[in-house]
Amino acid sequence: MKLLKNLYHLFKVLYKKDIHWNYYASKEDQTTIDKNARVHKVHFFYDVVVEKGTAIGPNARISFATIGKFCSLGPNLVCGWGIHPLHGISTSPVFYSTLKQAGFTYSQTDKIQERKPVRIGNDVFIGANVTILDGVTIGDGAVIGAGAVVSKDIPPYAIAVGCPIKILRYRFSPLLIEQLLVIKWWDKDDAVLRSVEKNFFEVQGFVDSFKSAAMV
Ligand SMILES: CC(C)(COP(=O)(O)OP(=O)(O)OC[C@H]1O[C@@H](n2cnc3c(N)ncnc32)[C@H](O)[C@@H]1OP(=O)(O)O)[C@@H](O)C(=O)NCCC(=O)NCCS
Repeated sequence: MKLLKNLYHLFKVLYKKDIHWNYYASKEDQTTIDKNARVHKVHFFYDVVVEKGTAIGPNARISFATIGKFCSLGPNLVCGWGIHPLHGISTSPVFYSTLKQAGFTYSQTDKIQERKPVRIGNDVFIGANVTILDGVTIGDGAVIGAGAVVSKDIPPYAIAVGCPIKILRYRFSPLLIEQLLVIKWWDKDDAVLRSVEKNFFEVQGFVDSFKSAAMV
């Protein structure tokens, strides 16, 4: 009886005419995801690069973005979804874009730059439900608090929250940040990456070990 009921529900879902399968399937266009990165389903990526060690939570909608190494991006990220002009008669792309976002267009030409690339550095942590606007750069080591709208560039190692977004503080002192940005540990080989794990809470010691080994 239960099996029959389940089959009946499956049949109903499969034959529902207004079902939008796009909402249930991930889609990647012009996208490169490193083999050592993980992206949860369902996601929709257009023109995205995801580098090694990065993990992206479910329901990410990302376009025109490069995402560096060892980033952690929380669920429901919306990133780089385009610009609408505010100084024309209308904000609708029907009148300024040939891309037919509404299924048709009156526009003979593309009147504005609709997309600007987003750059997310390395070792960036982004909390749940964040929106990143076009053209924004988030520096290496930065943290974006849950629910933020990232409307401007965020410097390396800043912890930024809220809407409008504000810098709460920095993860480390200016000197330590400068040293980490010189070392760029995320670009090093496996031996160095293992020492990140070994020295995890000994950040200054980790940085100093590069100085003594003259590896910077
Ligand atoms: C941004 C974040 C990392 C800051 O952590 P923290 O440094 O420990 O911050 P605190 O808890 O000490 O809070 C400091 C202040 O910022 C505020 N704050 C913290 N997170 C905030 C956020 N996401 N949005 C707005 N304000 C926030 C706090 O209310 C507090 O305000 P107050 O000084 O007026 O009391 C953290 O709050 C956050 O948002 N983490 C993401 C969680 C998440 O999405 N996890 C899923 C991961 S997949």
